Amino acid sequence: MENHKKRGIYTADCVKFMSGMRGGSVDLTITSPPYDNLRDYNGYKFDFEATAKQLFRITKRGGVVVWIIGDRINGGKSLTSFTQGLFFKEIGFNMHDVMIYQKKNTPFMRSNAYTNCYEFMFVLTKGTPKTFNPIKEQTVRQGYEMLVHNKKSDGINKKNLKELKKEKTKTNIWAYAVGFGGTTTDKIAFNHPAVFPEKLAEDHILSWTNHDDLVFDPMCGSGTTCKMAMLNDRQWLGIDVSKEYVQIAKQRIKETKESGGLHAA
Ligand SMILES: C[S@@+](CC[C@H](N)C(=O)[O-])C[C@H]1O[C@@H](n2cnc3c(N)ncnc32)[C@H](O)[C@@H]1O
Repeated sequence: MENHKKRGIYTADCVKFMSGMRGGSVDLTITSPPYDNLRDYNGYKFDFEATAKQLFRITKRGGVVVWIIGDRINGGKSLTSFTQGLFFKEIGFNMHDVMIYQKKNTPFMRSNAYTNCYEFMFVLTKGTPKTFNPIKEQTVRQGYEMLVHNKKSDGINKKNLKELKKEKTKTNIWAYAVGFGGTTTDKIAFNHPAVFPEKLAEDHILSWTNHDDLVFDPMCGSGTTCKMAMLNDRQWLGIDVSKEYVQIAKQRIKETKESGGLHAA
């Protein structure tokens, strides 16, 4: 089935759908699976190992899978994330980076531990990444400073007045405000219980893909990955097993198109 060429969102079980996709056809997957049955997504479950194996098969050499996952807290942390990370490695993925998605605003949750404010973003690659467009941010200190340029074993350092760099590559901890106005301003998206921030999806899309590359989300929920891929001129494909969520995602894409593609920063 040549379903992967189209831009679109489909109702299907992700493993079944992926088994119909051509091997080595996807540049970037960004997805956040249901974890530890923490939420009941209309009662739907997924087969982690089969999903991971299909993702490996459909990813291009040098392609990337961003797997966003947290752990259930019940007494202690489940560490499902670690188990999944090790399985990805076992089946051939390279754990290129373990990044952190930090939520800037989180409700207080535990009486005997610090409030959890993050999820992991496993950046899995098939080989080494074929694309990396690093996002830059402003350095904290700017202007001129006396910098060492000749550190010798005699202990005498030469210093010169040099201009500090104005920007540097972002760190691998990415922080976003969550909730209305942070995650998105699309009211319709909040009919889904677990939307991730648009900016998070966009930052990964810009980092790991170029114009016209195929961006995929096998468990796309309200369609965040698809929307941001569309706004950044990538090909996009989303799957969700729930008809209701697919309806939300399609409507969101439609509204984005109608509004001229404007989105929250
Ligand atoms: C954490 S949510 C994804 C939310 C999405 N990132 C967003 O921004 O809206 C996980 C999604 O996985 C879907 N799902 C669960 N099992 C699935 C399966 N077997 N195949 C496809 N989707 C599945 C659920 O319906 C749910 O919408």
